[in-house]
Amino acid sequence: MKFVVTDTYEQLSDKAAALILAQVQNKPRSLFVLPTGATPLGLFRRLVEAGKAGHADFSAAVFAVLDEYAGIATSDRRSLCGWLRRELLDPLAISDDRILTFTPHGEPQVEAERMEHALAQNGGIDVAVLGLGPNGHLGFNEPGSAFDSGCRLVSLTPESIRSNAAYWGSEADVPRTGFTLGLGTLLAARDFVLMVSGAHKADILARTINGPASVDLPATIVHLHPNAIVLADRAARPSKAQL
Ligand code: PGA
Repeated sequence: MKFVVTDTYEQLSDKAAALILAQVQNKPRSLFVLPTGATPLGLFRRLVEAGKAGHADFSAAVFAVLDEYAGIATSDRRSLCGWLRRELLDPLAISDDRILTFTPHGEPQVEAERMEHALAQNGGIDVAVLGLGPNGHLGFNEPGSAFDSGCRLVSLTPESIRSNAAYWGSEADVPRTGFTLGLGTLLAARDFVLMVSGAHKADILARTINGPASVDLPATIVHLHPNAIVLADRAARPSKAQL
């Protein structure tokens, strides 16, 4: 695992963008997995700018959504795919056939198999970009998720329901289940980038970096992936005492 700390969130976003832009230049038909949340917004802004300025060509790239709430309408504005479309995919003019997503109201087993198949059909994941959950989750892989887990429907933990309540108006409105790419699915990505920003992530980042790999903390799969990079800004950097 490579651990890179930048001074600012802007620099963190620059570094992540540089990785994605280099990847799409080297392999235009790359398959990217992208997360939702606050952390990747600076990265997405840079990718949209690069695309619009003609500095990057995403016209052959394929994008998979890391996770999705279950049981909602596909058109629900709060769907994670809808959010990713608004923030990145629509501004980059990515067509539907190059977006791999779960159908929120689909039959769980069918959806899980369809996503695994779609990832394989598209040559496997080239770069998986992840955010770090406050409880160490990756996507909806909550603590306790097996390291060899595949795409599946899961129950959200009370902690994840709380942290998503802001997007839904109240905790009661947050769906109780969601689809996620599995930890095994993510481990198979050729490159793995975990982005971490802000002082509120310092503790969970310290536990992630310290390891060892444990299913109690899904993000510790960075110790198992042969090509993992943890990109953090200084605010999230654990203190010496924590390491
Ligand atoms: P955040 O979310 O980027 O909004 O901090 C990360 C997560 O909970 O997975």
